[in-house]
Amino acid sequence: MHNDVEKVLYSEEQIKTRVAELAAQIRRDFDGQDLLTVGVLRGAVMFYADIVRELDMPLHMNFMSLSSYGASSRTSGAVRIQYDLEEDIAGRNVLIIEDIVDSGLTLSYLTKTLRSRNPATLKTCCLFDKPERRQVDFSADYVGFVVPDVFIVGYGLDYAEKYRNLKYIGELKREIYE
Ligand code: PRP
Repeated sequence: MHNDVEKVLYSEEQIKTRVAELAAQIRRDFDGQDLLTVGVLRGAVMFYADIVRELDMPLHMNFMSLSSYGASSRTSGAVRIQYDLEEDIAGRNVLIIEDIVDSGLTLSYLTKTLRSRNPATLKTCCLFDKPERRQVDFSADYVGFVVPDVFIVGYGLDYAEKYRNLKYIGELKREIYE
């Protein structure tokens, strides 16, 4: 697994520090308010588990599963909800927790879908942002790292379902995905 990685872009320590900073910002913004966190499976699973513990405040945890990439390295362009929220979000403060915003299609679709359910507020928190790859206009409210347009894996992010359990974020060697 490690041999397929060209270089480490963000170490376990760097990720931990940035996650704590994001959590501090979110905690300040939602101090004393009801907060429903929605983790987007599967890529966000590591980030989600770490940031909710750093948030260290009363909150609700829930999940959705969306997919557009399948086993490919390019988005299919069609986002599908594979697993939806079962609870009513009307009038609630909803915070979507996602690993990466790339083309923007997933979060653009998800925010539109959830906004139609009338939450009191809807915010998005992404650990990684690749603005160079945007196909639709989308900006997350909280962003951990702005990353260059290289193929990154680890800490939840996969290539063909591999590498999600790396503790760091690595740049995948070109020969693996080309
Ligand atoms: C990945 C990632 C984001 C999305 C971002 O999900 O977890 O949800 O792509 O890309 P976009 O901005 O181009 O839409 P994927 O569909 O690969 O599913 P996964 O979370 O199960 O890996």
